[in-house]
Amino acid sequence: FSKENQSTLSAYEWLTKLYHHLLRFTKDGKEGYQYLKNRGISDNAIDEFQLGFAPNVKDFTAEFLKKKGFNQALLVKAGLLSLQNDNSVTDRFRGRIIFPIRNHIGKTIAFGGRTITGGEPKYLNSSESELFQKGKILYNFDLAKKHIRKENEVILFEGYMDVISAYQAGINNVIATLGTALTEYQAKLLNRYVDTVVICYDGDNAGLEATYKAANLLRKVGCQVKIANLQDDLDPDSFIKAHGGDAFRNEVLSTGDTYIHFYMRYLKKDYNLTLEGDRIQYIENILKELAQIDSSVEREYYLSEIHKEYNISMQSLTEEIEKLRSNQG
Ligand code: CTP
Ligand code: MN
Ligand code: MN
Ligand code: MN
Ligand code: MN
Repeated sequence: FSKENQSTLSAYEWLTKLYHHLLRFTKDGKEGYQYLKNRGISDNAIDEFQLGFAPNVKDFTAEFLKKKGFNQALLVKAGLLSLQNDNSVTDRFRGRIIFPIRNHIGKTIAFGGRTITGGEPKYLNSSESELFQKGKILYNFDLAKKHIRKENEVILFEGYMDVISAYQAGINNVIATLGTALTEYQAKLLNRYVDTVVICYDGDNAGLEATYKAANLLRKVGCQVKIANLQDDLDPDSFIKAHGGDAFRNEVLSTGDTYIHFYMRYLKKDYNLTLEGDRIQYIENILKELAQIDSSVEREYYLSEIHKEYNISMQSLTEEIEKLRSNQG
C-alpha cells in the first residue's frame, strides 16, 4: 500500500470504531441503534458487522480526523469528506447508519450509509477511490470465504441487510453486490472459490432483470448457477423477517431453480401465453436456449417438460433441437 492508502485505511479504521461505539453505547448514536433494533438486528450482528452511526452534525467527522492529524485533501479523496464551494470540508455521512465495507483481507475501505429518516438517497456510499471500486468488492466476502469454501456454494444478495439477516438466521456463506449489477470481475472472483452461486436477488422487477444478467455472466465465466425463489416484492431480509430463517432455507434456497427453469419463468413476461402465436414464439425461444446444452440427457429432460406442458410431440421437439444444434456449427 502507498503511504496515502495506508493513511486512508487508518482513517476508516478509526471511524469504524468510533461510529460503532457511538451507536452501541452513546446517546449520540441512540436513534441509529433504535432503528436497527426496530429492524430486528441483534447486538451480536451489530458487533459482527461493526455497524455504526454517523451523527447528524456538519463537521463531526472532519473535526475528529483533523485532531488525529489526518490530511483533509486525502480524506476528500478517500470519500469520507465533501469539499464545499468555499473550499471548506463537511462530513459526507451525516445522520446515517454506517455499514463498513471491507476488502478481502478484512480492512474497511468504504462505508455504506443508510438514511434513518427516509431521506434521499436511501444509501450513500463512499465515493470510489483507488482502494474502493464498487464493481470489485463483494460485501462480506472476507468473513464468508471459509463458509463458501466449506459448502462449495455461495449465496449472492443485493444488499447489506440481506447479508446481515441471513447471518442472523445462521446462514454464513452469504455475500452481496452493492446493488444489482454484478460485474465480470466479481463473477471471475467467485469462480475461483466455488462451483455454485445461488443468486438471491430481490423479488421485484429490477431484481429479476439483474438475475438474468448475473446468471449469464456467471455461466460465462464457468460457475453453476441456481436461482432462489423469491416471489412478489419481498427481498431476502424482509422474507426472513416475515417468515423466519427455516422458511427461507426450505422455501427459498432449497427450491431454487436451475438456469433453464428460471429462464422459462423469466421469458414468460414477454408473452401472453394464452395466444397461440405467442406460445409458439415462446417455445421456440426456449428451444434455442436448450440447443446450447451439451448433455443430451439434460436436453431431453427439459424437452419432455415442454412436451407435457404444451402438448407438442417429442419427435418434433427433438427434430427442432437437432436443427438448431446443427446450425450452431
Ligand atoms: N444501494 C445503493 N444506493 C442506493 C440504493 C441501493 O448503493 N441508493 C445498494 C445498497 O448496497 C443496497 C443494495 O443496493 O443494500 C440493494 O438496494 P435495495 O434493495 O433498494 O435496498 P435494501 O438492501 O433492501 O435496503 P433496505 O432493506 O435497508 O431498504
Ligand atoms: Mn432491490
Ligand atoms: Mn432489497
Ligand atoms: Mn431490504
Ligand atoms: Mn425447478
